[in-house]
Amino acid sequence: MDNTSQTITVICFSPTHTSRAIAGAVADGMARTRCGAGATASCPSIVRTLDLTLDRSDEPIILTSGETVVLGAPVYAGRVAPEAVRRLKRIQVAAGASIPAIVTVTYGNRDYEDALVELYDLALSLGLTPFAAGAFIGEHSYSTPAMPIAEGRPDSMDLADASIFGGECARKLESPGAFAPFHIKGNRPYKEPSRPASSPAAAHPSGSGTAAAPPAHSAVTASPGTPAIPPVHSAVSASSGTPTVPSTAATASPDRPAVPAVPVTADGCPLCGECAAVCPTGAIVLDSGSMKVLTDPSLCIRCCACVKACPAGMRTYSTPFAAFLHEHCSARREPETFL
Ligand SMILES: Cc1cc2nc3c(=O)[nH]c(=O)nc-3n(C[C@H](O)[C@H](O)[C@H](O)COP(=O)(O)O)c2cc1C
Ligand code: SF4
Ligand code: SF4
Repeated sequence: MDNTSQTITVICFSPTHTSRAIAGAVADGMARTRCGAGATASCPSIVRTLDLTLDRSDEPIILTSGETVVLGAPVYAGRVAPEAVRRLKRIQVAAGASIPAIVTVTYGNRDYEDALVELYDLALSLGLTPFAAGAFIGEHSYSTPAMPIAEGRPDSMDLADASIFGGECARKLESPGAFAPFHIKGNRPYKEPSRPASSPAAAHPSGSGTAAAPPAHSAVTASPGTPAIPPVHSAVSASSGTPTVPSTAATASPDRPAVPAVPVTADGCPLCGECAAVCPTGAIVLDSGSMKVLTDPSLCIRCCACVKACPAGMRTYSTPFAAFLHEHCSARREPETFL
């Protein structure tokens, strides 16, 4: 394998752009180290970005020798966002090619639990050769000005950390032991996505750091206890933007608050179409007859891209998770890197 391959390819899924920002900063740091540029220079000619967020095609993405890949994906419920997994599975490594890969996940300041190990395993299964990994922090999808959660992250310090990590990755790739086994935090088997674990022990019944079937490169350890998301029932509130009731809908009770199944749109929306344009799954249809924004709950992944992109502030996703996360996950967490 040519460990010093020059093209760096960022491949990401990033509805609210934080995972892309982190993966891009890692790639830039790697590029600057390779081309010997100063801290403020960049080498855009050798970095290319394949952002799969709005790319719903099934076309394979063929990678050939001579490139290093940086994968970027968000954490949903302590796992890699399922839609990111689906998109990244388009990656194919050309016959005979060896593709070094850096895996990065971005999470909203609660925890990334088993997501980094899962992305590492996915990279391996796709034929890539992961040699470094990092978990970074991005503004939570549910963050609002009234209920901020990691607001504004990744900030300049996060991006600097990601860039420094990219430089370390460049140096590791040039070293003789570039592909030696390395440690990544997380559990195998991964936590169940539908039932947030209250602790790592719940996600890994033995509570030990021994993975069920770890690949040769990776060692895993139990992560420290972090706030788990409280259980809620999904219920559909009457709104102008919700055309159908999802099969998971249930009645709210005092201990189980109602969560709108999808974001909703306030009356008076001018149908500018920005929300539909940024929706990764095509869940939004603008109905000019009724002047309503219709959202298909079976397609919506609750990524909140539409909420953050609405220029009129008319698109909202009201969830009790936001208050919980605002209250319990406000202490600043810092990036963790493994290489
Ligand atoms: C459905 C869903 C589940 C999430 N689960 C977690 C989580 O378990 N831990 C966490 O810290 N953040 C969680 N987040 C927040 C995202 O990981 C975070 O906002 C990330 O920066 C979004 O990445 P993006 O900007 O690339 O879309 C979740 C967000 C969504 C929409
Ligand atoms: S982006 Fe906002 S204002 Fe524009 S169509 Fe969507 S909900 Fe309406
Ligand atoms: S409709 Fe759902 S999937 Fe589409 S952008 Fe909004 S939250 Fe994301």
